[in-house]
Amino acid sequence: MRYFFLIYALAIVFVISTFGFRGDKFKKPPIRIFPDMDEMDFVKGQKPSEFFKDGMGARKPVAGTVPMGHTVEADVHSELRGYGNKETYLHTGRFNETNFGKGFPTELELDKPENVTALLTRGHEVFGFKCAICHGDSGNGEGTVKANGFVPVISNLRTSTLVEGNIYEVVVNGRGNMGQMGSDLTLYDRWAVVAYVKALQASAKADYNNPKIKEIFDAGSKK
Ligand code: HEC
Repeated sequence: MRYFFLIYALAIVFVISTFGFRGDKFKKPPIRIFPDMDEMDFVKGQKPSEFFKDGMGARKPVAGTVPMGHTVEADVHSELRGYGNKETYLHTGRFNETNFGKGFPTELELDKPENVTALLTRGHEVFGFKCAICHGDSGNGEGTVKANGFVPVISNLRTSTLVEGNIYEVVVNGRGNMGQMGSDLTLYDRWAVVAYVKALQASAKADYNNPKIKEIFDAGSKK
């Protein structure tokens, strides 16, 4: 045991004499066992760099780069996948300066059933990650945020009487305690969530005693 204490004391003396106390000032460069990325080769923003052949520090995206959430070809160039700022119904939800429109923009081509399914499927997703936390999964305004008392009054979307264009506008610009979401959602995603809100409203009016509806509802709730 004696030797243990002796070795222990020597080890402490050795460590302190080699590395010094924490916060000591050194004249020589400190000993760094783990460099912790203290020094790195990196390019300062907007500055040239000799590392690259053309001497430019800032690099262009590799040819053919696709923004996140987009696919190659049609999507990237499609207006619907953008955040556009034109004066058409698709972009504003209004058909003139003062009036909101009813119905969906023709660009969505909802005369094709597969487009309706795709729009509602996407709308369900967007509602899940953007709206349900406040408005609740069913849109009744009883989401997590309300349960925790952060926002006392949240609109019940199931009974809301706003027309499509007006819902679109609320999503894009926000209202009261609801923040704007236009900068997060593409034109397509905005209209998708509007469509989903309309679907929630339709489902709120569905008659559970109708055997056909009961069958669909029960099948859905088992999933
Ligand atoms: C931070 C919580 C929050 C989130 C997230 C949120 N909302 Fe809201 N929403 C509110 C509140 C609060 C109101 C009431 C605003 C007011 O009138 O002062 C509201 C109002 C609305 C209204 C107006 C209803 C009416 O009849 O007046 C619509 C439509 C709406 N929200 C849709 C959405 C959609 C769609 C999403 C998701 C894209 C969403 N909200 C996300 C909190 C939220």
